Amino acid sequence: MEARTALDLHIRARYPILYLPTAEEERAEDDIRAVAEAWRPAWRVFVWDAVHGFVGVEGSRGMPLPALEFIAAQSPEQPALFILRDFHHYLRDAQVARHLRNLATLLRSRRQTTILLSPVVEIPPTLTEDITVLDYPLPDGATIAEHLHELLGGLETRLESGTSEALVKACAGMTLNRIGQVVRKALAATGTLDERTIDLVLDEKRQVIRRTEVLEFIASTDDLDDIGGLHGLKAWLERRAMAFTERARRYGLPHPKGLLLVGIQGTGKSLSAKATAQLLRVPLLRLDVGRLMGSLVGESESRAREMIRVAEAMAPVVLWIDEIDKGFRGVSSSFTGDSGTSARVFGTLITWMQEKTSPVFVVATANNIDVLPPELLRKGRFDEIFFVDLPTEPERREILDVHLRRRREHRLRDFDIPTLAAASAGYSGAELEQAIVDAMYVGFDEKREFTTDDVATALAATVPLSRTKQLEIDALRHWAADGNVRHSSL
Ligand SMILES: Nc1ncnc2c1ncn2[C@@H]1O[C@H](COP(=O)(O)OP(=O)(O)O)[C@@H](O)[C@H]1O
Ligand SMILES: [Mg+2]
Repeated sequence: MEARTALDLHIRARYPILYLPTAEEERAEDDIRAVAEAWRPAWRVFVWDAVHGFVGVEGSRGMPLPALEFIAAQSPEQPALFILRDFHHYLRDAQVARHLRNLATLLRSRRQTTILLSPVVEIPPTLTEDITVLDYPLPDGATIAEHLHELLGGLETRLESGTSEALVKACAGMTLNRIGQVVRKALAATGTLDERTIDLVLDEKRQVIRRTEVLEFIASTDDLDDIGGLHGLKAWLERRAMAFTERARRYGLPHPKGLLLVGIQGTGKSLSAKATAQLLRVPLLRLDVGRLMGSLVGESESRAREMIRVAEAMAPVVLWIDEIDKGFRGVSSSFTGDSGTSARVFGTLITWMQEKTSPVFVVATANNIDVLPPELLRKGRFDEIFFVDLPTEPERREILDVHLRRRREHRLRDFDIPTLAAASAGYSGAELEQAIVDAMYVGFDEKREFTTDDVATALAATVPLSRTKQLEIDALRHWAADGNVRHSSL
């Protein structure tokens, strides 16, 4: 939902205290004012910060309590909005918290809303009932274009239309402030506005992504042709790729949400995630859940929201959550350990996954199903859950073909792929690839080409993981057969 619409709805519904996590104070305040001025008669807007207090209000400087008293003392008949900048600093204070709770009760019956603006989300549990967090998205394309226009004084119209669109797109995912900085820096560096500006902006954006500390830009060229087998999954992905187009939007299809791939190690789940981005022709962002959950308490929550904001601003994009089972081991959205932070982070993420309308396609992978929170598997989080089994014999043939072709396209006919496939029951794709690499070492060492026999020897010399993990595999197969889970080979 657009920020102004969301603000408008919440304020009219008399939410007493809203919390907007954003570093873009100026843009947020502009949006709030725009909402207040659109009503007839316009609502008044008061702004408080620790340095100035409320303008013209004696004694409200640096002091949170008088600021709250000022709000409470306003005439109930007067519609108004009260913006408190950086108020998160005070929320842990018992008196402030009590005051805010009283204020919440008071404001519910008035056409008045208090809005906390802050770059981080830090809400003590006692206040979560009274404070509603409204996510404030990063600027959209139109806002960026408008801002660039102001910034460049119309210079951008000299760009070819494709380049100027590319510049707007390159700026997505950053705040207006940062866009200003980056574009000015790029202009100073090159003395003009051209394709090089876009490269500089993209470099800067990579840094913004890195600064979230939980997201990473992945450059990968793996595509569906690099995956052997998994035909059910590939066919499904191709159909979903169509749903990503503008034509599908006009037809009325919703944006696809994403998929979860479950299976033992080395079966091509991560590979499929990378190939998905390639298929959809969109950037690939990897989310490090372990790191997200491991951030200091409280920080995790801000990070989760920031991650979502950046991912949405970058959309269309594939958000790859690798080994989600490791990060969310045993978490539940009603879990209350570590003051409930993990539960809230998990809750934030699954609620977003369920409700998001932006083209962020989530591809999550998991090796283990037992430790996954059941809420994650509930309908509506993913479009589909796939079980990725060990490759069948025909699938092994395809996988061997992919990897031999990659390394020895010109000698492909020298290899007896059917024999190798027949001799490798229970081997995963990763293990088949490794056997080829091992064979290459032998050939290289003996200063000759490697052969089918070398690969067969390498296969015989390794114990596939499946042999030691038979129980786990059986359990996964049972789970897949019982539940609403698709088999990726079919
Ligand atoms: N089905 C497959 N087709 C081709 N290569 C595969 C396949 N499965 C695994 N591999 C190879 O093994 C590597 C590791 O697999 P990966 O996707 O990381 O497994 P997972 O994420 O399921 O543990 C891949 O990069 C690829 O080279
Ligand atoms: Mg993996």
